[in-house]
Amino acid sequence: MGYLETTKDVYKEAALTPDVGLCCTTNPIWELPGLKIPLIMQQMNYGCGSTVHPRDLVNNPRILYVGVGGGMELLQFAYFSRQENGVIGVDVVDEMLEASRVNFKEAEAMNPCFKSEFVNLRKGDALNLPLDDNSIDVAAQNCLFNIFKTEDLKKAIAEMYRVLKPHGRLVMSDPTCEQEMSDKLRNDERLRALCLSGSLPINEYVKMLTDAGFGTIEIRARKAYRILDPVHYDVDELIYIESIEVAAIKDLMPKDGPCIFTGKAAIYYGEEDYFDDGKGHTLLKNQPLAICDKTAGALASLGRDDIFISPSTFHYDGGGCC
Ligand SMILES: C[S@@+](CC[C@H](N)C(=O)[O-])C[C@H]1O[C@@H](n2cnc3c(N)ncnc32)[C@H](O)[C@@H]1O
Repeated sequence: MGYLETTKDVYKEAALTPDVGLCCTTNPIWELPGLKIPLIMQQMNYGCGSTVHPRDLVNNPRILYVGVGGGMELLQFAYFSRQENGVIGVDVVDEMLEASRVNFKEAEAMNPCFKSEFVNLRKGDALNLPLDDNSIDVAAQNCLFNIFKTEDLKKAIAEMYRVLKPHGRLVMSDPTCEQEMSDKLRNDERLRALCLSGSLPINEYVKMLTDAGFGTIEIRARKAYRILDPVHYDVDELIYIESIEVAAIKDLMPKDGPCIFTGKAAIYYGEEDYFDDGKGHTLLKNQPLAICDKTAGALASLGRDDIFISPSTFHYDGGGCC
């Protein structure tokens, strides 16, 4: 049996017997005003980080969520969109679709602002999405893509790119790991399915997105996630796993390469009121300007002693250059 089949089995089990702590969940539940999240959805939170960002949800977007789990994030998306079929949920595991359907009914009974019809559940595979090209404004996945091996991950990202409209955005949360993992660990199908041994270093993860054509990348959060230690896992040293929240935007690829925002800022502290680099970036005196890594490199290469460039905070929250 291949790892994709093992993954389906793991999540079939997780749908039939909700298992708190089975997978992921290092975040507190994000509570929204007036929204009650059924306990069963909280117990079936198999994600890390959040993919629900209100600022992505302007102009009544058509939303896609791949890998539904217990349905909590679909409920949170529906809280903002509040319309029939406003959120499409796709999952390959029948039992997970059924479990989330039941959970949405419970959420409906608890929340006058939510109707089950707001969510359109569809059976489908992340590697072959049952959706038309250029039909989605905001696509999300949480803790599914890290499970995929390279060729499948490429397919899954290409599928998201295909269904997104121009300037649409793919919002994700996944574990990442900067350390080398042994092949044995990487090929352990159950650990992979549990989001413990598939993760990539952040640079490689981002490169997969830009290679697929996404012209703008935003890293919105980076947090501690798990430790694999030699007592409990087949590892020689402690392996530290983090999780990130990332948005990949289907902007045209700039001629000089993608804009990748990792939370850097530039601050001009010279004698003038501002500094203009002649390329569309104006730095007001002692005011931080959020910059992408490309602009950070270009400003640094000027070799000036009146421009400070901050390290990456991995907490980009909008605005700035590009
Ligand atoms: C780690 S869980 C995450 C669930 C949910 N996103 C959350 O944050 O709680 C992975 C989800 O992806 C689904 N899944 C697994 N393989 C899939 C595939 N090839 N295509 C679509 N969904 C898949 C599982 O059934 C499960 O719902």
